[in-house]
Amino acid sequence: MSLRHYLSVTDLSPAEVRETLLLASDIKRNPGKYRQALAGQTLAMIFQKKSTRTRVSFEVGMYQLGGHALFLSGADIQIGRGETIEDTAKVISRYCNGIMARVYGHDVIEDLGKYATVPVINGLSDLEHPCQTLCDVQTLVEHWTADGGFDPDVLRGKTLCYVGDGNNMAHSLLDTGAATGLNVTIVAPADYAPSPVIVERARKLGEQTGAKIVVSTDPISGVQGADCIYTDVWASMGQEEEAQKRQRDFAGFQVDETMMRRANPGCLFMHCLPAHRGEEVSAEVCDGPRSIIFDEAENRLHIQKALMVRLMGGR
Ligand code: CP
Ligand code: NVA
Repeated sequence: MSLRHYLSVTDLSPAEVRETLLLASDIKRNPGKYRQALAGQTLAMIFQKKSTRTRVSFEVGMYQLGGHALFLSGADIQIGRGETIEDTAKVISRYCNGIMARVYGHDVIEDLGKYATVPVINGLSDLEHPCQTLCDVQTLVEHWTADGGFDPDVLRGKTLCYVGDGNNMAHSLLDTGAATGLNVTIVAPADYAPSPVIVERARKLGEQTGAKIVVSTDPISGVQGADCIYTDVWASMGQEEEAQKRQRDFAGFQVDETMMRRANPGCLFMHCLPAHRGEEVSAEVCDGPRSIIFDEAENRLHIQKALMVRLMGGR
């Protein structure tokens, strides 16, 4: 089998995204079936940025699949002293069966993919967060399929509205909606619009799957028709110095009860976490009855187990 990476949602075809969702659902329901799926394998986890969910869910996931995970802080390995990504990728490939990395520039994850001889998974870059958004649609499928079933087709014709910074989360939500037939509207201030290149590729893919892709700057009209409102921090990791300016620039973009009422009845609330209550979302919405943030967080474990089984287990 040829080497496959998961650097972007677009590394999987729409059919493969669907298969991965179904596999994650099966792994979640029948974890015992997969207890030896990656027996004896080791995943190297490189973190140049902080993490709670990604780190814990990948490490626990590997353990539950019979394998082992190594936490490698970017500051503590030789990358921190200037060793090249190329050499790092080649060396780690000699010891480990897969690499998951959280990085700043997307070129770093692409270089890892270029030089590694084992599968590489993007655990977040400045440009994309593709593990997060697969678990997000898994969570929506669970909530929208009747009688506890799991039918990815329920996403078709529904609308997810992302309100906030046109950042890595917005980009991967665009790709994921386009791959699954879920309409995605991004509502962001003009200066924080998502990458036009990613919007365009999502529009193109959406033409095949039926997903409508919309970009708006109006938080009032933009959320109308939404079945789910999603948000993320206004200042991402690496943008700490812009935090105060961004608080001013994002005035009017907080997801609160008034905004939720403009969306469709029963509209769900999602957030990749960590959340800043009182900034991008009110505490009332974040901790209210429509919020499914902890179901989302849990599903990081199941979707990543599915990704690792696909990429490292020869499936
Ligand atoms: N959502 C997410 O990736 O969380 P962490 O930054 O805690 O890994
Ligand atoms: N946009 C956020 C996502 C954190 C999971 C960041 O990059 O910091």
